[in-house]
Amino acid sequence: MKVAIIGGGPAGLYSGILLKKQRPEAEITVYERNRADDTFGFGVVFSDATLDNFEKYDPASYRRITQEFAYWDDIAVHFRGTVHRVGGNGFCGCSRRQLLLILQERARELGVKLIFETEIDDESRFADADLVVIADGSNSRFRDKHAAHFQPEVDLRSNVFAWMGSTRPLDAFTFIFQETEWGPFIAHAYQYEAGRSTWIFETDPETFKRAGLTGLNEKQSADRMAEIFGWFLEGHPLLTNRSMWRNFPMIRSQRWVKDKMVLLGDAKATAHFSIGSGTKLAMEDAIALADAMQAAPTVRDALALYEQGRREEVEKTQHAADVSLVWFEHVDRFWDFDPVQFAFGVMTRAKAITYDNLTLRAPDFVGEVDKAFARHVRDQGFDVDVEKPLTPMFQPFRLRELTLANRAVVSPMCMYSAEEGLPGDFHLVHYGSRALGGAGLIFTEMTCVGRDARITPGCAGLWNDEQEAAWRRIVDFVHANSAAKICLQLGHAGRKGATKLMWDGMDRPLEQGGWDVISASPVPYFPDSQVPREMDRAAMDRVKSEFVASAERGEACGFDMLELHCAHGYLLASFISPLTNQRTDEYGGSLDSRLRYPLEIFEALRSVWPSHKPMSVRISATDWAEGGITGDDAVHVARAFAEAGVDLVDVSTGQTTRDAQPVYGRMFQTPFSDQVRNEARVATMCVGNITTADQVNTILAAGRADLVALGRPHLVDPGFTMRAAAWYGAGDIFCAPQYLPGKDQIFRNSVRDRQDLEDLKIKAKPKTRAELKLEATKPLAAE
Ligand SMILES: Cc1cc2nc3c(=O)[nH]c(=O)nc-3n(C[C@H](O)[C@H](O)[C@H](O)COP(=O)(O)OP(=O)(O)OC[C@H]3O[C@@H](n4cnc5c(N)ncnc54)[C@H](O)[C@@H]3O)c2cc1C
Ligand SMILES: Cc1cc2nc3c(=O)[nH]c(=O)nc-3n(C[C@H](O)[C@H](O)[C@H](O)COP(=O)(O)O)c2cc1C
Repeated sequence: MKVAIIGGGPAGLYSGILLKKQRPEAEITVYERNRADDTFGFGVVFSDATLDNFEKYDPASYRRITQEFAYWDDIAVHFRGTVHRVGGNGFCGCSRRQLLLILQERARELGVKLIFETEIDDESRFADADLVVIADGSNSRFRDKHAAHFQPEVDLRSNVFAWMGSTRPLDAFTFIFQETEWGPFIAHAYQYEAGRSTWIFETDPETFKRAGLTGLNEKQSADRMAEIFGWFLEGHPLLTNRSMWRNFPMIRSQRWVKDKMVLLGDAKATAHFSIGSGTKLAMEDAIALADAMQAAPTVRDALALYEQGRREEVEKTQHAADVSLVWFEHVDRFWDFDPVQFAFGVMTRAKAITYDNLTLRAPDFVGEVDKAFARHVRDQGFDVDVEKPLTPMFQPFRLRELTLANRAVVSPMCMYSAEEGLPGDFHLVHYGSRALGGAGLIFTEMTCVGRDARITPGCAGLWNDEQEAAWRRIVDFVHANSAAKICLQLGHAGRKGATKLMWDGMDRPLEQGGWDVISASPVPYFPDSQVPREMDRAAMDRVKSEFVASAERGEACGFDMLELHCAHGYLLASFISPLTNQRTDEYGGSLDSRLRYPLEIFEALRSVWPSHKPMSVRISATDWAEGGITGDDAVHVARAFAEAGVDLVDVSTGQTTRDAQPVYGRMFQTPFSDQVRNEARVATMCVGNITTADQVNTILAAGRADLVALGRPHLVDPGFTMRAAAWYGAGDIFCAPQYLPGKDQIFRNSVRDRQDLEDLKIKAKPKTRAELKLEATKPLAAE
């Protein structure tokens, strides 16, 4: 077998090593345009888990690599004169140059041919090779040459960064967030060998310009960075080596394989340096390729297997890297946070690290986070314990004169079980049991303002006396038997009206018994859905008066709060989104014009809804579709509602059009709540695939939302909040007297269960390399 490898970076060299080990008879050649010891960059970083992998695949290079490594366990966050350190992270750093020299040496030893100072510009010279590995880095000439096939997507991110080095020793992975007269600068720094550390500087393009960095040469820009971070460098110099400022290219390729050619490493996909995974991904690609070559009978099958088996893992890492880089791009959102909350945000930005996880690793740090949160709550006039604070989830929250006992919310969810809009026994039991379950606030399902405003024949409404009486019964039950507050969500289905019950075909048009539907514009939802009638002023006035009448009935029922549903493609959302609003009058066109009618309704409701009671609005913060609403638009929408008197923005997303492409995942809508809250400076509630109390605490403690709603988890578990209260020891949670023995039992058992689980987790966690190294260097205790 003949293998040609283009590029002698980590991906190319490691794939040469692994393939040669597998097939000693193969003729494997690596072509590298640089000289053998000619390398840019300073250190590379690997997690313990990645090193475990290296140990398994090539113990010889693993041993040499780890001899050269610097280990650390802590992450240190420097911000506004404070330092917060969190242990248990298990990372290792090594010089990139040293890593490449080790891999070169190992490759040579195994018989891999290394040809340096040879730039390959045409793959046809490898016509006789069985496999051509393209590992030529992020500017891959061969990926671009066959772009029509590989279909790469290069997203040049907005922040600029430069890679430098220093002799400054560091004992932790160090983030420094530095305020300057020009704006924020960030340093990501870590030691990779004795007396050498990597420094990646990052800033936004405007700050870069204001700081006069445009056009400076390497030395001059290093001098400017040394001025900014001089207080920390303590006289150590900054070193440069092709340390140009660049925008990070986030690269994804639709295909990784073409005939016998395969893309590896940065050539196929990149991951932002803030999660330190570029070199890791490159070397793990080499492992995946070697595995596939071992498992499959032919090269063609092996390459297909490599792509199939590896893609998910790479995309997962890229997703985490995306979330992380976006956090750094928007660091100014958090600039006025309490430093400990800021540090918590840094730690939890990429979702892998959570509140509970940090509680195990760094209980003092989380203790401080809790105290800062409680202090903030106390500053808002609550008499809460700041010395022994409850977790954020169990801190109270106030909206106008409404006080919520905790921050867990039952999200609005249609039950499709009303008859002619009339809630029945099912609704009483449904809402009643969730109120008894301990959530601070429960939302009604979208309650329709008229018969024709319903989504389905099973939707609940509030347009007649009978419905008003039925809702009053529910509200009274909630108030009489629980500490929960209840919010009425009012809505109009618009073009999604006259459709089937969820279990008969969500959003599908009714075959019989439908009614005429209206919308901002005559755009049907499905091609075969009813074409809605474009609303004229008379229809707008009629619907407005229906909303007002329902709100007045809501007040008569005793609801504590009112929400206007402007999300999910229903009537008011159809005005806001440009994908569904094609009007040419004053209610179409710019975002402000598209917002005019929803705001008109909101203002009409606000004028009849008692001024001591809060109002919220649910929005779709993105349409997840080309040309639709974006996070930036959502900030604008939130500001407009806030000016009109909204107290809380309930941040959901999507469901506007059929061709949306949502990116699902844990807490997938939380970044939008974060953006709205911290840019529009308005209280938010987030929702969407949040399933654990740990996630609720993580979101709240990081300041990404003020309330957290859970929908589907509450469908199967009305007592979600009660169980979480037991777990976190929030003993003051209200419990109906009938249920007290249950509360006593779960609170008692939870203490032990939690301890057992934590012990198990601690025992099961292997020691990090840094811990092992520390143990090995400790003097033995005297016997
Ligand atoms: C300026 C810079 C500095 C960096 N510094 C660091 C750092 O300090 N720490 C860190 O962890 N990561 C660093 N990275 C990122 C890291 O290099 C990559 O994520 C990782 O090296 C990817 O490995 P790779 O093998 O896919 O690509 P690369 O390491 O980029 O290797 C590709 C190799 O292919 C060679 N090549 C390209 N085209 C041809 C051709 N036509 N013919 C022959 N050879 C060719 C290149 O010279 C290069 O050696 C840096 C990246 C850049 C661009
Ligand atoms: C069965 C069902 C019905 C829903 N009905 C409504 C509704 O009436 N109003 C609304 O704003 N959202 C509604 N939603 C959306 C939820 O409120 C919530 O935003 C969504 O389910 C995501 O949260 P989750 O992952 O916690 O379920 C509904 C969701 C489900 C599953």
